[in-house]
Amino acid sequence: HPPSFQMGESSGLRPANCRAKGGAPGFKVAILGAAGGIGQPLALLMKINPLVSVLHLYDVVNTPGVTADISHMDTGAVVRGFLGPQQLENALAGMDLVIIPAGVPRKPGMTRDDLFNINAGIVRTLCEGIAKSCPNAIVNLISNPVNSTVPIAAEVFKKAGTYDPKRLLGVTMLDVVRANTFVAEVLGLDPREVDVPVVGGHSGVTILPLLSQVKPPCSFTPKEIDYLTDRIQNGGTEVVEAKAGTGSATLSMAYAAVKFADACLRGLRGDSGIVECSFVASQVTELPFFASKVRLGRTGAEEIYPLGPLNEYERAGLEKAKKELATSIQKGVSFIRK
Ligand code: NAD
Ligand code: LMR
Repeated sequence: HPPSFQMGESSGLRPANCRAKGGAPGFKVAILGAAGGIGQPLALLMKINPLVSVLHLYDVVNTPGVTADISHMDTGAVVRGFLGPQQLENALAGMDLVIIPAGVPRKPGMTRDDLFNINAGIVRTLCEGIAKSCPNAIVNLISNPVNSTVPIAAEVFKKAGTYDPKRLLGVTMLDVVRANTFVAEVLGLDPREVDVPVVGGHSGVTILPLLSQVKPPCSFTPKEIDYLTDRIQNGGTEVVEAKAGTGSATLSMAYAAVKFADACLRGLRGDSGIVECSFVASQVTELPFFASKVRLGRTGAEEIYPLGPLNEYERAGLEKAKKELATSIQKGVSFIRK
């Protein structure tokens, strides 16, 4: 295998035993798709995360430049770059957490499911690499369509004999981030004070904000509920249209991905009471996967919380969400089983 290019580790000018011990204690994190629209700001934000000691940046293009650039930041994490499939194994070896934003984004007029044909194969290949090189890592899967790519990953891991449902987490954090922002706008609050559970999945009607469970407790008019539900469900499309063919959400996504990854790392560290929404293997509904609040701990998603009391509007939304989710999940499963 060609060697990876390593940066931020040591200059090599002094013998190892003469150097002060560099590098922060912490976790080893790999980003797959690190040179992309999400990958680059995500790499930047993970480089400043004090819980990260080693940051591996993998992509099929442009990682030398991104790695050289990020590695000059004077933060603790050591950065190493990996380019192309021959370096995937080295990129993944020993990782505690793998974040996957690899794959094509939407253009106006497309649904997330329109990305399936390209992204399903990318996710399969990357997850085969994970099964081989770091089967115990926590996986944060961002690539769309999340409602299908998470079942694909699960099937790949099952086939490899490494599947642990607690360690496979579909990232739906951006839906929560958007919901917090839009609800705060309506209520005239600071978004940092607002917590909106968003359950179901990550596409259109499968994105189900539970506005009856907003914290701090509040009530909405029927008009506000329609406005908020529609805006939260179509937040991704709002960005895709504004970007007019140049891609989908990248900056807010990188922020959301880091918020979620940081929660996973705090869970791994043993912090208590870490709860976030995620699309995971679940028994909360009759579907095999569903997004809801999960408690993150040393072994991943250690507890999956039930949905709590839903009002009539949310119960109707749940039925619609389940119908679409069932099809998307099945599509992912059959992609690997066929
Ligand atoms: P992008 O095209 O800017 O970047 C994708 C990167 O993936 C590119 O650098 C590309 O080279 C890389 N890539 C392609 N094939 C690869 C492979 N086999 N191995 C490793 N890397 C590979 O796209 P983006 O805007 O960063 O979006 C990436 C994905 O994230 C899309 O599928 C998008 O729909 C999804 N997304 C998900 C959410 C979410 O909430 N879960 C939010 C936004 C975007
Ligand atoms: C999002 O919600 O922004 C992402 O899923 C990207 C998209 O295609 O909308």
